[in-house]
Amino acid sequence: MSNINALIEALPKAELHLHIEGSLEPEQLLEFADRNKVDLPFKTLEEVRAAYEFSNLQDFLDIYYQGMSVLQTEDDFHDLTDAYLKRVAADNVRHVEIFFDPQGHTERGIPFDVPITGILKALDAAQERYGISYRLIMCFLRHLSEEDAFKTWEEAKPWLARIHGIGLDSSENGHPPSKFTRIYEAAREAGLKLVAHAGEEGPPAYVYEALDELKIDRIDHGNRSLEDDALIARIRDAGITLTVCPLSNLSLCVVDDLKDHPLKKMLALGLKATVNSDDPAYFGGYVNQNYRETAEAVGLTHDDIITLAKNSFTGSFLSAEEQAPHLEAIDRIAAAH
Ligand code: ADE
Ligand code: ZN
Repeated sequence: MSNINALIEALPKAELHLHIEGSLEPEQLLEFADRNKVDLPFKTLEEVRAAYEFSNLQDFLDIYYQGMSVLQTEDDFHDLTDAYLKRVAADNVRHVEIFFDPQGHTERGIPFDVPITGILKALDAAQERYGISYRLIMCFLRHLSEEDAFKTWEEAKPWLARIHGIGLDSSENGHPPSKFTRIYEAAREAGLKLVAHAGEEGPPAYVYEALDELKIDRIDHGNRSLEDDALIARIRDAGITLTVCPLSNLSLCVVDDLKDHPLKKMLALGLKATVNSDDPAYFGGYVNQNYRETAEAVGLTHDDIITLAKNSFTGSFLSAEEQAPHLEAIDRIAAAH
C-alpha cells in the first residue's frame, strides 16, 4: 500500500456530506424491494448497476427518488443507516453529519415519523456499536415549493430537539436558494445550523444567495465559487467550510476527469475544503475511496491529506472540546507517518 493510502486509512475522519438515502446499495435495494413487495423496473444486480450511469444531476436524481420507493418501514431506515455506519467505521470515520430527505418519503405517503425514528435509532446506537458520533440534518427538496417546505417544517417541529440543522438539495438549476429564505429564517430562529447545496451545477450567484439570504454556516459542494475571485476571497476570509464530493462530481459530470477536480486548487487558495461521498452507493465509493482516487488524480500530498482530515472536524458542528481529541489523534498519526 502506498504511504498516502496508509495515511488515509489510519486517520480519523468526519463525513459532512452524506445523503443517507444515497447509501442504498444495489443489494439492499433489491432486498428491501423484495421484503416490501415493491415492483422495480430492474430485477438483477447487473440491471441496477447498469442504471447507475448518469450524465448530470437530474439524471441521477430520477434514479435516486425511484430507489427511495423501497424504503417503507422504520426497520428499513434503521437497517440502511446501520449499514452505512458499519461501512464507514471500517474507513476510520469517527463522526458523521448526515442528511435525510423527509419529503422524498412523505410525498409517497410515508409519515414523517417513520424515516426519522429508524435513522435516529441507528445513529443513537452508533457511538457504542462503532465509535461514531453524529449530527442529523434535514434537507428540503428545492424543486418543491416553499409551501411544501413549510408543511414539512410543521411536521418536523416535534422533532426539533433531535434535528441539528437544515439543508437544501435536489435539482439546483432554476431553484435558487432565495426561494427558501423564509424557511431558513424559521430554522435560524429555532437555533438550528444551516447548510445548503450551492454551486454544484448552479452559478456563483446561487452561492452568494446561500450566504447572503440563507445565511448558511457551511456550503455543500461550492465548486462553481471558483469562477468568481471575490467570492473565493469572501469564503476564505470567513473561514466557511466547503463539503466537496469528488467522485460525485465525476459521476454527475461536474468534472470530466478526476484530474481536473478543483480540490487541490481549493486548498491552495486557502479554502477550507473537506472530502465526502455524497451518495456513495451511486457514485462508486465511500470516504476513503474519495480520498484515495482524488489523491492519485490531483497529487494530494501528505500535508494536504492531514489538512483535509483536520478540516473535516473543524468544519463539523462538534464543539471545540469534542473536536480536540480527534485533532490530537490526527497530529499523532501525522507525526508517525
Ligand atoms: N440529493 C442527493 N444527492 C444530491 C446532490 N449531489 N445534489 C443535489 N441533491 C442531491
Ligand atoms: Zn449532496
